[in-house]
Order: sequence, then C-alpha cells, then structure tokens
Amino acid sequence: MRVTVTGAGHVGLVHAAAMAVIGHQVTVIDCDVSRIKGLQEGVVPFHEPLLREEVVRQVNGKRLRFTLGARDAYGDAEVVFLCVGTPPRDDGSANLMAVENAARDIRKHAPRHCVVVEKSTVPTGTAERLLSALNYGRNDLHVASNPEFLREGTALRDTLNPDRIVVGTSTKLAADVLRDVYRPLIDSGSRYIETSVATAELSKHASNSMLAMRISYMNALAEVCDRTGADVERVAEIMGADPRIGPSFLKAGLGFGGFCFPKDVAALAHTFTQNGVSSALLDEVLDINERAVRSVFRKIESALWHVEGKNVVVFGVAFKPDTDDVRFSPALKLVEVLTESRAHVSVWDPAVDSVRVGDRDVFPHTDLYEAARNADVAVIATDWEQLHKLDFFSLSVEMSGREIIDARNFLSESEILAAEAAGFTVTGVGR
Ligand code: UDX
Repeated sequence: MRVTVTGAGHVGLVHAAAMAVIGHQVTVIDCDVSRIKGLQEGVVPFHEPLLREEVVRQVNGKRLRFTLGARDAYGDAEVVFLCVGTPPRDDGSANLMAVENAARDIRKHAPRHCVVVEKSTVPTGTAERLLSALNYGRNDLHVASNPEFLREGTALRDTLNPDRIVVGTSTKLAADVLRDVYRPLIDSGSRYIETSVATAELSKHASNSMLAMRISYMNALAEVCDRTGADVERVAEIMGADPRIGPSFLKAGLGFGGFCFPKDVAALAHTFTQNGVSSALLDEVLDINERAVRSVFRKIESALWHVEGKNVVVFGVAFKPDTDDVRFSPALKLVEVLTESRAHVSVWDPAVDSVRVGDRDVFPHTDLYEAARNADVAVIATDWEQLHKLDFFSLSVEMSGREIIDARNFLSESEILAAEAAGFTVTGVGR
C-alpha cells in the first residue's frame, strides 16, 4: 500500500521503517529541510539501535523515500500517519499546532478517501477537530487513531513485534484500510484491537500514566524505606511476585523522564480536569517524580557536606540507557541542580555528544575514568549497561573522594561489595 508518514522524529522514522519492512511503499515528509536532506543521505538524526541499518536497507530496496514536498508526499497516499510533535504547553495541555498544519497540507493534496491516522500521542477528542480541519471544503477524508507504544532503545523491535496494535476508527473504510496495513503483523500473531477513536486515544495516555504511576509509587515507598531501613528493591521483588502486579516498572530511583511519560501524565491530568474529574492522583505522580531528583541531590549534599566547589561526576545524562535523548531527563535535571549549586560537574555518557546545561553546552566524556578524575563523589544517574563493567579500583585511583550515589539502584549486591572493598561508600535510593 502507499503509506505516507508525516514527521521524521523518533515515532515517525521508526514507524516508516517498520511499514517498509512489512512491504508497504513509504514516503516520509518533514518540514525540517536539513533532517530530510540528511535522511536522503542515510543520516539518522538520533541514536536508536538498528534504525539506521534498516532505513538504509529500505531506501536501497526502494520501499522508503524522503521528501519535503506536500504534493509529492500526499498526492497518491492511501493512508497518512501523523507522527508530528505534540509538545506540552505550560498548563500541561498538548500543543497541536503541528497536527493542524499537517492537516492543512493533507486537505489540499490527499486523494479521495485517504485515511489520516493519529499516531503521535494526542488528547482524547482530537480526532473530531482533526476531521473537521481535514474536510474543510471537501467531505471524504477519514480519521483514525492508532497510538504507538514503542520504547526508545527497542523501538524498531517493539514496532515489528507489538504486544498490541490499537486501532480506533469511525468508518468501515478506515477500519478496512488499517486492517490491510497491519495484515502482515496480524497474520504473524500480533494482537489487533479495534475500537472507537476516543477509546484508542485515551488508551495511550492511560497506559503511560499507569506505568508512570507505578514508578512514582515505588519512589514514594523509597522515601519511606530511606527513613525506616526497609529495602525498596526487596519490597519491589515481593510485590512483583504477585501475578496481579508483575515485576515491571517497579524500579525506584531518579524518576521517569523522556518525551512521553512526563507530558502524557500532564496531558491526562489536563483531560481529567477538563472533564470535571479530579486530577489529584496524576498531579501527585508528577510531584513525586520531581521529589526523586531533589532527594538524590540531598544524598549528594549529605555525602559532601557542601556541594559548592566540589567535583561531582555524573554517570549518564540520557533519560534512560540505549538512547541519546535528554528530553525531560531526570539525570539532566540533576546535573542542572548541581550546577546551579555551584558544584563542578563532569558528565559521562556513551551516546549523548553534547547537552545544554543552563546557558552552556556540556560535552560528556566517553571514558568513565577520565570523567571521574578528581571527583569527590560519583553519581549513577542513567542505568547504562557499561557501568556493570566499572573497575572500582581504577575508579578509586582517579577519584579524590570515596562516595558513590547509586541513583538508579543499578549496582548488584556483589558490585556494591566490590565497590566497598575498593574503599567506597555506596548509597542507593530506598535501600
Ligand atoms: C514509554 C512507554 O514505555 C512506551 O510504551 C510509550 O510509547 C512511550 O513512552 P519510553 O519513553 O521510551 O517509552 O521509556 P520507558 O522505557 O518506558 O522509560 C521511561 C522512564 O521511566 C525512563 O526515564 C526510565 O528510566 C524510567 N523508569 C522505567 C523507572 O524509573 N523505573 C522503572 O521501573 C521503569
């Protein structure tokens, strides 16, 4: 089928590559000229395992191409996936300008009965506005909702082996077209859930907020553990043994970040309020998440006495491992708070090349020991696998202090023993 993807960001590019893999003829359009030019030359603008290789393979196989022209992109599209950014406004609501702008181009160029699919996360009720924006002066375009559930770092694998494909439609034509689009994945056993547009829209915010809620719940428990001597890691293990709860997303630490959880929880809270439902539960999820960074800062402060003028090495600045994404990263927030408190901060990250901290650019080290030189304290802020290879004796040679703050409860018991044998004191979160 002829598929167009609007937006060459994390969601759009991964989705486009996956659509090409399952046999569709895919065109990607983005208003960012340099991004499209780069992609035409095989440059993927962010770090996502396997993506560059797949993009190049699909471009060479002539199933994937990139364009800046709206007529070129939409002129013969059977289905358009909207993967444009929907960033949060100050009040938590989503800014849908990019959706509206795309709708204007699609209305002008798309053929009759094209199906326009909301793929980026949008608030419940967006489809109604989108439908009227698309059909201004015409009356044949269809709208569907097909939220993405991919995780950065495993995005392509998640898209090609989804635990569920959720499709919300209000016309038979749209339902038929989307079933055809996903036929190869349905045939290989993926769970395909068909529902109304509003239900599909809400299910995305509901899922992400539920996961965020689990993390904040664990972080609140970690605060109690820090005061009572209970171990939040063991509490999580015991909770997770109950099949009704399950073990995932029970890791206490520095809190959640990235471009989905914080904005989705805020957007759902906004939807609650708009519909007369108290958002207190979701507001608290966000509050606990902010407290998590402050609580780690206090641990650093208590290890150093005064933070001002001290050398702090922060291991990891991405919001999670296997990505170079620092958007809403709690690790970055910690670096900012430390810098504002006039600590000398050195950063290590294997994927992030540069990051803006306040009014300056910071270039993370790629060598752990070099980053740690003369540090009074080391903080594990992102759970990068590489940190399991830390040689604590070499670290102790480089550092001037002997404190490790494990803000992700990342180190195993044997690693903590090895660190202690090298003279370090290790402080975790709620353990
Ligand atoms: C998330 C959802 O998982 C995905 O389904 C959705 O489509 C997009 O949002 P992603 O943003 O890539 O994906 O990150 P995810 O792996 O879910 O982690 C989110 C954050 O939560 C990270 O900052 C991570 O460090 C943190 N986290 C995760 C915890 O603090 N504890 C946990 O137990 C799990």
